Amino acid sequence: MTVLDLGSGAGFDCFLAAKKVGKSGKVIGVDMTPQMIKKAKENAKKYDYKNVEFRLGDIEKLPIENKSVDVIISNCVINLSPNKSEVFKESFRVLKNDGKIFISDMVLLKELSKIHKQDNDLISSCIAGAILKKEYLKLMKNAGFEVEILSEDKEISERQYKGFPVESIKLVAYKK
Ligand SMILES: C[S@@+](CC[C@H](N)C(=O)[O-])C[C@H]1O[C@@H](n2cnc3c(N)ncnc32)[C@H](O)[C@@H]1O
Repeated sequence: MTVLDLGSGAGFDCFLAAKKVGKSGKVIGVDMTPQMIKKAKENAKKYDYKNVEFRLGDIEKLPIENKSVDVIISNCVINLSPNKSEVFKESFRVLKNDGKIFISDMVLLKELSKIHKQDNDLISSCIAGAILKKEYLKLMKNAGFEVEILSEDKEISERQYKGFPVESIKLVAYKK
């Protein structure tokens, strides 16, 4: 099985996936930050993961062949993308038929003010780049996915985000 991680950071989710797919499988991590790719490659070497590859690239234009991936995973990344529609279209393109994408991400429950939307600290803390949940789900459906929500954590707003109207959502979406 081939697994793709969108926005792989230091590579830890790729390493968890690598254990699941075993020696006959493969995991590819894509990240647009050269420093994170370097870090992830160092970690792969340090922990001796041979079935993981890291590629520098933008998740809005994935450096991945059509219909070559069984499962996509992504944790707290898509909110950072200014063009989420392209991320979902690209994900659909690279998945094999019957493939699926598991996402954990932040979505808005209410629109933010223009000032908050442009606040760099809020963007980097995964709030200001987020879009409304219903828009997010619509973009996924428009890309061709059948979406199933697995869980929603609204308490994270008070716990971690000073009451900003956000929630953490976990979902699976199918390419049928
Ligand atoms: C909050 S970190 C999450 C990293 C990892 N998924 C994790 O859970 O540890 C966000 C990562 O996404 C990457 N990223 C953000 N926007 C991206 C884009 N458009 N294309 C590729 N990588 C992106 C960043 O460089 C960063 O490594």
